[in-house]
Amino acid sequence: MKIRTAMMFILALGVSTLANAAGEIVIKFSHVVAPDTPKGRAAEKFKQLAEEKTKGKVKVEIYPNSQLYKDREEIEALQIGAVQMLAPSLSKFGPMGAREFEVFDLPYIFPNKETLYRVMDGDVGKKLFAKLESKGVMGLTFWDNGFKQMSANRPLINVADFKGLKMRIQSSKVLDATMKALGANPQVMAFSEVYTGLQQGVVDGTENPVSNFYTQKMNEVQKYMTISQHNYLGYAVVVNKKFWEGLPVDVRTALESAMKETTAFERDIAQQENDEALAKVKAAKTTDIHYQSPKERLDWYKALLPVHKEFEDVIGKDIIQAVYSTASQVEKELVKK
Ligand code: LMR
Repeated sequence: MKIRTAMMFILALGVSTLANAAGEIVIKFSHVVAPDTPKGRAAEKFKQLAEEKTKGKVKVEIYPNSQLYKDREEIEALQIGAVQMLAPSLSKFGPMGAREFEVFDLPYIFPNKETLYRVMDGDVGKKLFAKLESKGVMGLTFWDNGFKQMSANRPLINVADFKGLKMRIQSSKVLDATMKALGANPQVMAFSEVYTGLQQGVVDGTENPVSNFYTQKMNEVQKYMTISQHNYLGYAVVVNKKFWEGLPVDVRTALESAMKETTAFERDIAQQENDEALAKVKAAKTTDIHYQSPKERLDWYKALLPVHKEFEDVIGKDIIQAVYSTASQVEKELVKK
């Protein structure tokens, strides 16, 4: 409803690039996580650099913690120009018809961050961004968060422990299949609703990098976490295409430079933010942390690997193969070192 009203307002104005009363170009940057997360801190960094580099011609307004829009709404808001910039997780592009993004959700597909960055910054990343253009959205860059850990109110050691558990997932069919392959019952839920969902038992467990887990206080409502690193969570920074293309060239160039610096900063801090969050969860003593044995990890891996094949047609064999070959190239280089 909110969105529809905004849409009518914007259509009535017939514009998507707006200057405020002070003559500044305003970029509304909406996101769903806390400010003290990799994405939250990067949004602040971008604001600082963008305002500096455009010498005040641009003002970036950040709306964290789903203050303006929840998961699905924020993408609609971007498309109609109610906000100009977002950084949704890569799992949230499927419902807008860009199912190829779900390659990032495939369990265990990225053996390390080096493979991940090469895939994001290479041909696969470009191909994915090209899919967005017809939807009025333009991809600028990819940001990192981290590998996800599983949590619940029962220990999650063996695959059998998932049986019948209601697990919150993002709106990705690959994540749905992943939870089903473990024997769980996946439930799509907006990020802003997860804490309450867990507290009230609407869902029993979830998966997230620890930075998201801790900053949403999920440790208060989850007794067990397994350091499983079974899949990945990262972001695409996207803008409203019409807005971006309508910017004066000098402004756009300055913003591109700000974004490039921000991406380097973001990827630098992501691991550290997750490490610190894990230390805080341990210190809170609310959640028992289990580190998987190699045998346990192998059992999960065997249960989840068929998901790759299941999604070959949806994601594209070529995209999946490109990730595999990047992974083996990185592996070879690591062995040589
Ligand atoms: C989630 O919904 O679990 C995450 O995508 C939230 C985020 O943006 O990191």
